[in-house]
Amino acid sequence: MEHLREDRPVDLGAALARARSPERPGPETPAGAPVRAWAGPPCPLPEAGPADLDLRALLRLSLAASDTSGRLRPTSSAGALHPVDTELVVGTGCSLPPGRYGYDPLRHRVHHVGPPGDGTPPGVTAALTVTAQRTVSHYGHRAWPLLLLDTGHAAAALLLAARVLGAGESDVRMDGRTENPLAVVRIPPPDGRSPRRPAETEDPPAPADLLARRSTPPPLPGLPPRDALREVLATAERAGGSGLLRWCAAVGPPRPGLMELAPEGTTLRRYASGDARPTLAAWAAGQAWLADAGAVLLAHGCPADAGTAHIRRAHLRAGFAVHLAHVTALRHGLAARPVGSWQQADLGAALGAAPGRDWVVHALALGTRHADEENST
Ligand SMILES: Cc1cc2nc3c(=O)[nH]c(=O)nc-3n(C[C@H](O)[C@H](O)[C@H](O)COP(=O)(O)O)c2cc1C
Repeated sequence: MEHLREDRPVDLGAALARARSPERPGPETPAGAPVRAWAGPPCPLPEAGPADLDLRALLRLSLAASDTSGRLRPTSSAGALHPVDTELVVGTGCSLPPGRYGYDPLRHRVHHVGPPGDGTPPGVTAALTVTAQRTVSHYGHRAWPLLLLDTGHAAAALLLAARVLGAGESDVRMDGRTENPLAVVRIPPPDGRSPRRPAETEDPPAPADLLARRSTPPPLPGLPPRDALREVLATAERAGGSGLLRWCAAVGPPRPGLMELAPEGTTLRRYASGDARPTLAAWAAGQAWLADAGAVLLAHGCPADAGTAHIRRAHLRAGFAVHLAHVTALRHGLAARPVGSWQQADLGAALGAAPGRDWVVHALALGTRHADEENST
């Protein structure tokens, strides 16, 4: 089996075409170390002063392993393989002295790797890269789209943690132009005022919303209430990069079909009828439980002839938006689970449009907790 390595340039267009093909991955290969071997000396994350951006809390709420099993909660990750590595460029106003640090999520500590550099802004700038080998170890040639999606999820986790801590509004850069880093999240220190956020977004989440976030184990039956589904779709659309991706939800009975947000963004409308969920289950590496999910939120786009930057941008954005949609779903009492492995999932062609233009990029399966509870009794 071909090994995809971080130190080798990847033809992303070819990698995506192969990941979308019916070819199955080969046997497992070694995942390697779960944490990058950062060069500098380790140091603990100190307690924050009253006016500082609390990096210990920020990382605890987003990227830190919360138990000793090696599982890097609270961020979701395909196969729980956690390929994302984080370097922090710390400026003034933070609970660490200015400098560059590599983060060790297993030990929840940093390694000092260098000085901050000229013009480092106040607050922290998190640069996200991936160690492809971790995800390749299980997914083989299907890894690259998942690596990009995972990075988007991690960026969203940092953004949400920053909101919880009342930091200034974060700036998330995922333009797809570079592989190292793939994404950059800049978080200013708290400015003493209530956190600014775009007027149309929801209240910031509470720490418990982030620490308790898990992917609900399948099955996920139960059609979500219309209002909750609309909020989940609206969150995804807001975060999903306008013009880059389209969003819809495949719903089951009593009126199966594809729903989307109407252009004014406040109502749901049906734009195709028929039950898409069995097809989605076949496309998602044969995950049969998807055919009975209450609803499946879909990010779609990224045509077959998309260039490297477009592919990166679309997948990073999809991961980012699905993560925010996941937290919104949980806050509305829904069960939810990301679904990132898609083969031959040409949604556009399935709906009668030209083939190769409109592929499923990422998804969030949704159900009702009520159905979940009924299931377990
Ligand atoms: C990009 C991405 C793709 C995923 N794809 C699937 C999937 O296809 N099927 C599935 O059951 N879970 C999928 N998951 C959920 C992961 O298995 C889950 O996040 C991981 O096991 C960690 O568990 P947690 O989210 O509860 O912390 C995916 C998660 C991410 C971030």
